[in-house]
Amino acid sequence: MAIDAANPVPPDLPRYAGRDQIPPHVPKDLIFETGLTTGPEFLANPHDFMAKMHEKYPPIFYDVGNHINAWMATKHEDALFVLRHADIFSNEGATPFPRDPNDYFYFIPIEIDPPHHRKYRNIVDPLFSPKGVMQLEGLIRQRARDLLDDFAGAPGEGGECEFTTAFGRPLPVSVFLDIMGLPQDMRDTFVSWAVDLLHARDPAVMGKAFLNITTYIKEAIAEKKANPDEGVVSRIAHAIVDGKPLSDKEVFGFVVFLFIGGLDTVFATLNNIWLWLARNPDRVQEIIDRPDEDIDNIVEELLRRWSVTFSGRVLAQDYEMRGVQMKKGDRITCVLPACNFDPEVFPNPTEVDFDRPRKTILAFTVGVHSCMGGHLARLEIKIALQEWLKRIPKFSLKPGAEIEYRPGGVIGPETLPLVW
Ligand code: HEM
Repeated sequence: MAIDAANPVPPDLPRYAGRDQIPPHVPKDLIFETGLTTGPEFLANPHDFMAKMHEKYPPIFYDVGNHINAWMATKHEDALFVLRHADIFSNEGATPFPRDPNDYFYFIPIEIDPPHHRKYRNIVDPLFSPKGVMQLEGLIRQRARDLLDDFAGAPGEGGECEFTTAFGRPLPVSVFLDIMGLPQDMRDTFVSWAVDLLHARDPAVMGKAFLNITTYIKEAIAEKKANPDEGVVSRIAHAIVDGKPLSDKEVFGFVVFLFIGGLDTVFATLNNIWLWLARNPDRVQEIIDRPDEDIDNIVEELLRRWSVTFSGRVLAQDYEMRGVQMKKGDRITCVLPACNFDPEVFPNPTEVDFDRPRKTILAFTVGVHSCMGGHLARLEIKIALQEWLKRIPKFSLKPGAEIEYRPGGVIGPETLPLVW
C-alpha cells in the first residue's frame, strides 16, 4: 500500500516472538533457536558465530527468539535478491524501533518503500555522494587530529586510552554534528544520549534518552526553520517535495533516523576494527607499509570482515526461495555479516585479505535502501586509520582487558582499553 508519511499510522503487522508464535506454514525442520544477537555463544564472539552460520544452518531458516521470530537469509546471493526486490520484500513496518502509537511517525527513509522513498533520498543524497563527502575530508581529519591531541602524547611516548570514549564515539558524533549543522558543544551530550538509547539495558534509561533526543531535535528543527543554513537538518526542514514542504512528522522522522543510523554503526565498526588491529600488530605494520593508494581496498576489506548490522524486511506477498515457502506478512532478516562470510563468494572468509578481488560487500546493504551514509562512513574509517596510525603505530589491548558484547542490532565491543 502506498504510504502517506505526512499522516503516519502504526503498521497492522503481527510481530511474533517465541516458540508459541510460529506460523503453521513454517516447516519444523527449518525452525531453529540460534540466539543471534542475544545468546551466550553469539555474545562470546559475534563475528565467528555469524561466519559459522553457513555450516550450522540451512541458507534460509526460521529463527525463533525472545524478541522476534523471522526468516534468516545468510547467503550473499539471496540477500542481493531480497534487497533488490522492494516489491516483494517491503520496508513498511520492518524496523525494530518501538514508538508511541498515539503519536506515530515513520523513520524516513528506511520505512518508506519505492516510489516515495526516492523523493526523500533526493533531498540529501547530494551531500552524501562521494563528491559531497570529499568536501568534508579536511574537517574530518581535523576532528580526528584534535581528538588524538588529547591523549596520544608525543611520538614514541607510551600511553593508554579507552578507545570507545577517547576516539570511537566522539569522532563520528562530532562529524555528524558538523554535517547536521548542529553545535560541537553538544558532542558529549549526544554521545551519552546515543549510549543510553542504544546500549542501556534499562527501558527507563532508554526512554529518557529518546525523550531528550526528540526534544532536542524538535527544537533544532524549529531553529533551522527560522534560520536556514547549509546543514542537513535545515535542508530537510526546508525541503519541497511534490510542490509542498514536508510535514512536521516527516521532518522529524527523517532527522531522528539519521541519528539512529549514523552514530552507533560507525562507532561499532571502528571498535571492531581497532580490536582486531590491537591483536594483530603485524597487520598494523602491513597497513602502514602498503602504498597510500591501497587504503580504499583496506577499508573495504575491513568493512566486509567487521560489518555490524542487519537488514529486516516484511514479505509483501507470498514468495518461495530455495524451495522455502514464505507468506505475506512474514519477516525476513538478511544477516549481512554472515553474507559477507559466504565462502562461495569470499573464500577463507574470516581471513582479512586486502588483495581480495573486489566483490559487492553487504556492510551497507544494496538496493534502494543502501546506506545513505556509506561514503561518509568509508571516509571516516579511512581518516581514522590514517591519523591514528601516524600518531600511534604500535598499540595493543591493555593486559587483563575484558572484551564484552551486549545484545543489540549493532555489533561491536562495548569498551576497548588500549596501551602503547
Ligand atoms: C560503518 C557505518 C555504517 C554502517 C555499517 C551502516 C549500515 C547501514 C545499513 C546496513 C543500512 C540498510 C538497512 C536496511 O537495509 O534495512 C543503512 C541504511 C541507512 N544508513 Fe547507514 N550505516 C553506516 C553509517 C551511516 C551514516 C554515517 C549515516 C548518516 C549520517 C547513515 C545513514 C543511513 C540512512 C539514512 C539509511 C537508510 C537509507 C534508506 O532507507 O534509503 N549510515 N545503513
